[in-house]
Amino acid sequence: MIVVTTPTGNIGAQVLENILNSGEPVRVIARDPSRLPAHIRKSVEVITGSHGDSAIVNQAFAGADSVFWLVPPNFQAVSLEAAYVDFTRPACDALKRHGVKRVVVVSALGRGWPRHAGFVSASLAMDDLIAATGVSLRALTMPSFMDNMLMQVESIKHQGMFFSPIDGDRKSPTCATRDIAAVAAGLLLDSSWSGQGGVPVLGPEDLSFNDMADIMTEVLGKPVRFQQIPIDAFKARLTGSGMSEAMAQGMADMMVAKNEGLDNTVPRTPEGSSPTPFRQWCEDTLKPAVAR
Ligand SMILES: NC(=O)c1ccc[n+]([C@@H]2O[C@H](COP(=O)([O-])OP(=O)(O)OC[C@H]3O[C@@H](n4cnc5c(N)ncnc54)[C@H](OP(=O)(O)O)[C@@H]3O)[C@@H](O)[C@H]2O)c1
Repeated sequence: MIVVTTPTGNIGAQVLENILNSGEPVRVIARDPSRLPAHIRKSVEVITGSHGDSAIVNQAFAGADSVFWLVPPNFQAVSLEAAYVDFTRPACDALKRHGVKRVVVVSALGRGWPRHAGFVSASLAMDDLIAATGVSLRALTMPSFMDNMLMQVESIKHQGMFFSPIDGDRKSPTCATRDIAAVAAGLLLDSSWSGQGGVPVLGPEDLSFNDMADIMTEVLGKPVRFQQIPIDAFKARLTGSGMSEAMAQGMADMMVAKNEGLDNTVPRTPEGSSPTPFRQWCEDTLKPAVAR
């Protein structure tokens, strides 16, 4: 039995599609099962509720062999600790109680980074909490997702611009969520691994935001330009759009670390390079989103 959290989310939904026809029984945890496509609802067992809730994870993990664990973004949280670590505590108790064998967790690059790195530090603390249960664990360690660009689709469409506090010439890895889901699905369907470790999902190439602007310009057939913004202005945008002070600070701290090279710490290997290039992602995902 494989348990999938966030089956309506960006990565979770793609994980589910990848394992649906494997023959393995699948159970999902969903707050609102009506948000699941009909073909999914027919093929899986659904536990209704939040995977941050003790009663729900105890129900879901009974008889489970593997769990796909993803902490939902909670931009109103009072602290990063509450959002990542406290959210995961009930699941850790349930993993132990039900003797779950393997967990695949969505995490981030940055293990060993010497300074606080906001969201990334919280993700790594969550990994440590899960690891302390003794379960076999694969933490998928990612740089920023290509799919983050969709959050700026309106300014790309109307102003031909996108923004970040990161230096436009800093080349970093970036990966597509479809590739993360494929790696997660492979691990969930493989019962031969044990122990604990990280699995980098780095995409096929390192690109700067200026490189990305050039690729978007070519794919969209209209000029797209990157503009770096000061970190204070970045944080003010986040709080202005309703994010809590603690989470906005966490996002700013993460961006400062990324600008100092946080995502460049893991060397690219053939195993860590996931297949989708940014140009392909733009053709398949960004272009239709801009056209809508
Ligand atoms: N973006 C990046 O560059 C990056 C890089 C590295 C790691 N990450 C990690 O990737 C994860 C985000 O993945 P994603 O993009 O797939 O997320 P997403 O698309 O935003 O999906 C969020 C999911 O969480 C569910 N959800 C929201 N609030 C919930 C709650 N309180 N309780 C239970 N479920 C809740 C949503 O379902 P309903 O609303 O339907 O209930 C949805 O299924 C985060 O953990 C982040 O730290 C992100």
